[in-house]
Amino acid sequence: MPEAFTQNHLIGIAPLSAEEIRALLSRAEYYADRLDDKSFKPDILRGCAVLSLFFEDSTRTRTSFEMAAKRLGADWVNIDIATSSVKKGETLRDTVLTLHAMLRPDAIIIRHTEYGTPEFVAKHVNCPVINAGDSWREHPTQALLDALTLRRRFGRIEGLTVAICGDIAHSRVANSNMILLRKMGADVHIVAPPALLPDKLPAEGVKKFETMEEGLKGCDAVMMLRLQKERMQAGLIESEVAYFRHYGLTLEKLAHAKPGAAVMHPGPMNRGVEIADDVADDPDRSLILQQVRNGVPARMAALELLLTRKR
Ligand code: CP
Repeated sequence: MPEAFTQNHLIGIAPLSAEEIRALLSRAEYYADRLDDKSFKPDILRGCAVLSLFFEDSTRTRTSFEMAAKRLGADWVNIDIATSSVKKGETLRDTVLTLHAMLRPDAIIIRHTEYGTPEFVAKHVNCPVINAGDSWREHPTQALLDALTLRRRFGRIEGLTVAICGDIAHSRVANSNMILLRKMGADVHIVAPPALLPDKLPAEGVKKFETMEEGLKGCDAVMMLRLQKERMQAGLIESEVAYFRHYGLTLEKLAHAKPGAAVMHPGPMNRGVEIADDVADDPDRSLILQQVRNGVPARMAALELLLTRKR
């Protein structure tokens, strides 16, 4: 077991050292290599209960955490918030304390609209808490699966130039990726209209651009982001048509990046808003379905390292 990993929770990429990120990615790579023939120990988390609390919708993150937990032999308990007593006014604290008393979970996976909820939950339980996305702050396992995807495509992360394009201001994916990529020695360009470019960035050395032409120059990979309308005040963009014209990734705009540059998107995609169909579906350059696939091994690694670490 990688001894480099000393975290009790996975609240964000920010608290992790480069060594801890490498430990997670190496273990994720181990599982990625063995997922098809299932040649890994299937029971290292047998007897463990993993509790899933998603206060926001999800297709990829929740399902891949469930698959990751089950592949390692854990029991998976998902609370459907829409039909839970949260709807009768139960507070987050009471919901967490109730489920903790009932299930004695070995890990809690939480997604919430409120910034800082995973830390709040971690203070009330005695098991690891994994942040599956809190507001616009962090989405650490998304950044890990993105890094795994880059590592499997390019054999390294250090020295790559990665453009992150679109709604940077409201994106937890952009935040976690900027932090991880800089810690791992990549160059990061962010590209967005001024209204979607935050003044303060979560990592040193990230370069800001306002046009795709400038920002994609010299990039090995281009990561597109969805407009996060659920967190965006009205009127920040002129129209989706105008946004696509200037910031939507087309083959023409992609030509500004390095020849053969890879295309990424965390999903869900809004086709025709931030990405054109032929780019999203390009069988050679689009890594989007590989990102989705890598969600399972990346989350297996996170669960294993957190739940089996000696404390
Ligand atoms: N990328 C991502 O977090 O997708 P979901 O919202 O479907 O989990």
